Amino acid sequence: MMTRSHCYCFYGIFTIYFSLLIHTLASAPLNLCQHDQRDALLEFRDEFVIDEFDPSRWNKSSDCCLWKHVKCDDKYGQVISLDLHDTFLNSSLKINSSLFRLQYLRHLNLSSCNLQGKIPSSLGNLSHLTVVDLSFNELVGEISASIENLDHLRYFSVEYNHLTEMIPSSLGNLSSLTFLDLSSNELVGEIPTSIGYIKNLRELHLGGNHLIGEIPSSLGNLSRLLELELGHNHLVGEVPPSIGNLNELRVMQLYQNTLSGNIPILLANLTKLSDISLYYNNFSSTLPSDMSGFHYLEYFLVSENSLHGPFPKSLFSSPSLQLVDLEGNHFTGPIEFANTSSSELQYLGLSRNGFDGPIPESISVFLNLVELDLTYNNFTGSLPKSISKLTSLTDLKLSNNKLKGEVPSFVWRFSTMILSHNLFSSFENSSQETLIQMLDLSSNSFEGPFPQWICKLKRLSLLDLSNNLFNGSIPPCLRNSIVSLTELNLSNNSFSGTVPHIFGDATKLESLDVSHNQLHGKFPKSLINCTALQFVNMESNKIKDKFPSWLGSLPFLHVLILKSNEFYGPLYHRNMTMGFQSLRIIDVSHNDFTGTLAPHYFSTWREMSIFTEGAYMANLLRYYSSDLLNYRSMEMVNKGVDTRFQRIRRDFRAIDFSGNRIYGKIPESLCLLKELRLLNLSGNAFSNNIPRFLANLTKLEALDLSSNKLSGEIPQDLGELSFLSYMNFSHNLLQGPLPRGTQFQRQECSSFLGNPGLYGLEDICQESHSSNPTSQQRKESSESDEQMFSWVAAAIAYGPGVFCGLVVGHIFFTSHSQEWFIAKFGLRKFRVTVGGG
Ligand SMILES: *[C@@H]1O[C@H](CO)[C@@H](O)[C@H](O)[C@H]1NC(C)=O
Ligand SMILES: *[C@@H]1O[C@H](CO)[C@@H](O)[C@H](O)[C@H]1NC(C)=O
Ligand SMILES: *[C@@H]1O[C@H](CO)[C@@H](O)[C@H](O)[C@H]1NC(C)=O
Ligand SMILES: *[C@@H]1O[C@H](CO)[C@@H](O)[C@H](O)[C@H]1NC(C)=O
Ligand SMILES: *[C@@H]1O[C@H](CO)[C@@H](O)[C@H](O)[C@H]1NC(C)=O
Ligand SMILES: *[C@@H]1O[C@H](CO)[C@@H](O)[C@H](O)[C@H]1NC(C)=O
Ligand SMILES: *[C@@H]1O[C@H](CO)[C@@H](O)[C@H](O)[C@H]1NC(C)=O
Ligand SMILES: *[C@@H]1O[C@H](CO)[C@@H](O)[C@H](O)[C@H]1NC(C)=O
Ligand SMILES: *[C@@H]1O[C@H](CO)[C@@H](O)[C@H](O)[C@H]1NC(C)=O
Ligand SMILES: *[C@@H]1O[C@H](CO)[C@@H](O)[C@H](O)[C@H]1NC(C)=O
Ligand SMILES: *[C@@H]1O[C@H](CO)[C@@H](O)[C@H](O)[C@H]1NC(C)=O
Ligand SMILES: *[C@@H]1O[C@H](CO)[C@@H](O)[C@H](O)[C@H]1NC(C)=O
Repeated sequence: MMTRSHCYCFYGIFTIYFSLLIHTLASAPLNLCQHDQRDALLEFRDEFVIDEFDPSRWNKSSDCCLWKHVKCDDKYGQVISLDLHDTFLNSSLKINSSLFRLQYLRHLNLSSCNLQGKIPSSLGNLSHLTVVDLSFNELVGEISASIENLDHLRYFSVEYNHLTEMIPSSLGNLSSLTFLDLSSNELVGEIPTSIGYIKNLRELHLGGNHLIGEIPSSLGNLSRLLELELGHNHLVGEVPPSIGNLNELRVMQLYQNTLSGNIPILLANLTKLSDISLYYNNFSSTLPSDMSGFHYLEYFLVSENSLHGPFPKSLFSSPSLQLVDLEGNHFTGPIEFANTSSSELQYLGLSRNGFDGPIPESISVFLNLVELDLTYNNFTGSLPKSISKLTSLTDLKLSNNKLKGEVPSFVWRFSTMILSHNLFSSFENSSQETLIQMLDLSSNSFEGPFPQWICKLKRLSLLDLSNNLFNGSIPPCLRNSIVSLTELNLSNNSFSGTVPHIFGDATKLESLDVSHNQLHGKFPKSLINCTALQFVNMESNKIKDKFPSWLGSLPFLHVLILKSNEFYGPLYHRNMTMGFQSLRIIDVSHNDFTGTLAPHYFSTWREMSIFTEGAYMANLLRYYSSDLLNYRSMEMVNKGVDTRFQRIRRDFRAIDFSGNRIYGKIPESLCLLKELRLLNLSGNAFSNNIPRFLANLTKLEALDLSSNKLSGEIPQDLGELSFLSYMNFSHNLLQGPLPRGTQFQRQECSSFLGNPGLYGLEDICQESHSSNPTSQQRKESSESDEQMFSWVAAAIAYGPGVFCGLVVGHIFFTSHSQEWFIAKFGLRKFRVTVGGG
């Protein structure tokens, strides 16, 4: 705290300083600023529509050298620095901009100014520039034209003949540019070879653009380069060996390209590196066998390549090491941390490799470790006791290994504990206060009653006990920890009894999965208070209740699965507006629902009728890998899972009412659900005609109306649904001709059987007869592929995507990899390039 006397003292110094300043000003020439410089600045300002300049500072009658954003040379009043970063210029730099009359400019910062258009080549006329920062704008076009101009200002020695004709010799020897940052723009084309002539360059930042081609080997001539940042572009090929000559290099960021090459050779002489960021490329070599020479290394990030070889233990002799990420490679063998001096290490990620053997006790050397991710390997044995010494550790992720035994009690002080897909069978009871927020014990061999100590966890946001052998009832005390819960998954156990009324305060709950247990009784009415609820899965229990139509008032409910229970009565409550405005997926199949659906039944289901981009439900897929998402389709392409992201497709909308006793007409309001991808009404007692308006559901990919009492003809218009790849009309009372249209011709014969009056099936059924064995085989193998797919999808979703969904929350970036990366390295302090993708 600053005391009163300090204050006075400060004030005194300030007063003296101030009077000195006045004195100096008084004795100096009134206007230091040169008039042409001042006018150029003012004209430059007028090229933009800017509110942000303080007019009293950029005021013609005051000294321009005192203007905000401007610095002058002390002696001559020449403007040498213009720094307008974060000023909203919202326009392009004109080729004749007055900026280029500031010919003494050394330092130009127009970062984050919403600049558009091309980098004007006249930038090259500013021959004194040493620092140019145009990062984080929307600049387009190729770099080369402007850069060639820039660099001809810089350095032209006699050896450099082929350009001398183009370049006035007067410009020779100007080798002042040391810093060039064009990162995070929209620049296209190749990196110009001529950058290699900017001999004094210390930092080159071109990351986050759309640059293509190979890295020019001329960059290897930039012998003073300290930082080379080319990440997040579309660069290909091998990193030229000349880069290995840049032996002053501190930062090498080549991530998110398609680069390859031999890392041991590349890094051989680059021992001053502190940041090696090569993640998301195609490197397929080993790592250098001895990395103990990298004394300054802080970040070693090589995830998502095809690197192989043993665990690089020599890496850990660097005393400054902070982040190590080897995830998603092919490293094998045991890990060990003998002779480690990396006491600063905060993050160690070894996920998705082939490491095996025990987790060594020596892990405890990393006293500052915050996050340890060993998921998806073949680690065996039990958790080493020494982990208890890692007092900074908050996130321990060990899923998908072969770890077994008892989970020791010290782990409950971490905030994230992911132990799923192992062979753990018990836990040491803990009486101490715990901070745990994410607890995932799913897919292990835990057994016995619900662990009561979980009721003491007051900060819990995720609780996943799914796929174990728990039994007994769900205790009412769970109400205590549910206040902060966003996800609760108890699926695939043997829980019995009723679902207790514990949800009255669960206002943060987004996802509830109690599927595949033996729960009975009523549907939990207290869910009505869970206004954040997005996902409810009760599949395969014995819940016996009426349809909980009151769920329709939950504003964010996206997914409702009541499949295979004992629900009864009508799906429609005469007295009720249905709501369900956010519903994307509903599956109430295989219950005992009956009654009719009123004509306006679907009229409020807004998210199925209007296109909304929708958010991924990343954290939901692992709970829900039902047939709905993996519905049979002839082409095996259109499914409810986005195969790139392994999540429920953003645009997926599905209704499954099959296997009930619903009767009457198919309601007309169905025609509003223009975003519907899958409709399954099979195994009910729907009657009358198939409505023609189904042809208006143009995004439909799968349609199953089989085993009903539908009569009349199949509407010819359905033949025009070009995405409809799976359909089934079998076992109805249909008649008349089969619609034309390729999608119909591609169906199996069985999709139409059991309709005595239907004709025009000859082509389909004959072909299927003659090639019966093969087509049967094909079908079987494709079905087993799909089974596989569904489990693989679920398993992968369990990896990065999940944590992403949880950590990043509602921020959705365009590129999965970025989302994942930012989630994971949130602790990293330097700039992460977002954009492009
Ligand atoms: C410009 O500066 C002069 C002198 O400091 C002052 O009198 C005048 O009001 C200023 N003009 C504007 C538009 O702020
Ligand atoms: C330019 O301004 C930005 C702030 O937007 C700053 O981060 C950056 O360091 C500046 N560049 C230079 C070269 O000083
Ligand atoms: C930015 O400029 C564009 C046209 O160049 C204009 O449409 C837009 O409204 C401007 N944005 C703002 C916030 O002024
Ligand atoms: C830049 O220099 C070139 C060649 O010296 C000249 O033709 C051009 O007019 C100059 N541009 C500006 C904006 O001064
Ligand atoms: C730049 O050139 C355009 C026409 O080419 C002209 O309208 C504009 O006034 C010029 N701007 C400056 C600052 O000279
Ligand atoms: C470049 O510098 C060298 C010596 O440093 C000098 O002899 C030569 O004249 C200079 N060239 C130009 C074009 O200024
Ligand atoms: C780089 O250096 C090599 C040899 O020192 C030379 O042959 C080549 O022309 C240089 N290239 C550039 C772009 O400076
Ligand atoms: C490393 O540097 C040494 C000595 O400067 C040199 O002989 C060797 O070729 C360099 N190795 C690589 C791979 O660049
Ligand atoms: C784990 O080991 C098994 C058999 O030893 C092997 O098939 C599997 O690929 C290994 N898994 C990983 C992730 O390396
Ligand atoms: C819902 O919350 C209110 C208070 O916010 C509470 O009075 C009520 O009992 C809760 N409802 C249920 C069903 O628990
Ligand atoms: C029907 O709705 C009205 C008003 O919406 C309500 O007052 C009445 O209690 C409801 N009747 C039943 C049987 O739910
Ligand atoms: C279905 O589409 C046709 C033409 O595309 C249109 O005339 C008709 O009104 C639509 N019907 C409904 C119920 O939306």
